[in-house]
Amino acid sequence: MNDPISLPPARILGIESSCDETAAAVVENGRVQLASIVASQVDLHAKYGGVFPEVASRQHILSIFPVVEQVLYQAHLTLNDVDAIAVTRGPGLAGSLVVGMNMAKGLSLAADLPLVGVNHLEGHIYSAWVSPGDVTHLPPEPKFPLLALLVSGGHTELNLVRGHLDYQRLGGTLDDAVGEAFDKVARLLNLSYPGGPAIQKAAAEGNAEAFNFPRPRLEGSWNFSFSGLKTAVLRVVREFEEKQKPLPVENLAASFQAAVVDTLVGKTIQAARTFEVENILVAGGVSANRALRTAFLAQTEFPVHIPSLSLCTDNAVMIASAGYYRYAKGQRDSLDMDVLPTWPLSQL
Ligand SMILES: Nc1ncnc2c1ncn2[C@@H]1O[C@H](COP(=O)(O)OP(=O)(O)OP(=O)(O)O)[C@@H](O)[C@H]1O
Ligand SMILES: [Mg+2]
Repeated sequence: MNDPISLPPARILGIESSCDETAAAVVENGRVQLASIVASQVDLHAKYGGVFPEVASRQHILSIFPVVEQVLYQAHLTLNDVDAIAVTRGPGLAGSLVVGMNMAKGLSLAADLPLVGVNHLEGHIYSAWVSPGDVTHLPPEPKFPLLALLVSGGHTELNLVRGHLDYQRLGGTLDDAVGEAFDKVARLLNLSYPGGPAIQKAAAEGNAEAFNFPRPRLEGSWNFSFSGLKTAVLRVVREFEEKQKPLPVENLAASFQAAVVDTLVGKTIQAARTFEVENILVAGGVSANRALRTAFLAQTEFPVHIPSLSLCTDNAVMIASAGYYRYAKGQRDSLDMDVLPTWPLSQL
């Protein structure tokens, strides 16, 4: 277990630009959101059905200054009231990451503030510590050791978290990330981008038992695989197309979602038992999924922590929160810090 970190009072300005959201936030003591701005590019990328890296980095350049300016204004603070700047160092798109990184370096230099590089996935995990409301509404603090299920657009993995900033990767997806599977299946069903919210909406009107899709268990490992499930949906779609029958979009969405939820919950509980953890934590964009949240909260074997809805998909609050714990541990990065487009949690 890590040495306990002493936690000084501190306000952290967080900056996030790893993918298609330009975001800034101010968080107090790692847990209280004072202000948060997320400038989403989703409309720009929707016509491509996914993130177009070149378009993303150009848009970050246009948004980063106003987003940081606005978040300080919203928090009624200046840079003089901030103790450090935390910035996403990776993983993510190189051309997007450098925009946030250069902004953070510029501010650090101009205001003589410490610079702290943060792993985006670690940020997702720390989003469960934060209250987007006021200090009187802090979520219960997750207890270590905990089992963290990370489910996002680019990642699906199980990590054993023994203490603050201490991760052991147990396993992950062998093919598609679960968010990616939502996005691809949504495309098959002619639903809008991003696919997760669209599938959730369609599924609410459908029967989850209409199609019995596979729930791959991959016994003997802590890995996941979602490509077979995606192919199973494709096969049904083709059959309906060949017969020129209208696609039962709602039933397909509900049955797909149920297979994903069963798979994720089943494996996570199994791992939580094996590693005898105190708590389960679910984070990343897909943790916004209502069916997934409901299924985890319905089991009573382990207390489960899931971030507030506004903190599930990319934001800078989570970067400021993780940055706070790194700052408290004494991490200070130099102006030479480079971005790391590939940066597994296990290498921290
Ligand atoms: N309600 C929902 N149900 C299911 N999936 C959802 C929901 N809301 C968002 N998602 C999915 O979450 C993903 C986006 O999550 P996030 O913003 O964390 O991804 P990312 O930052 O692109 O990836 P990563 O964090 O791995 O770098 C998308 O694939 C989206 O479809
Ligand atoms: Mg993310």
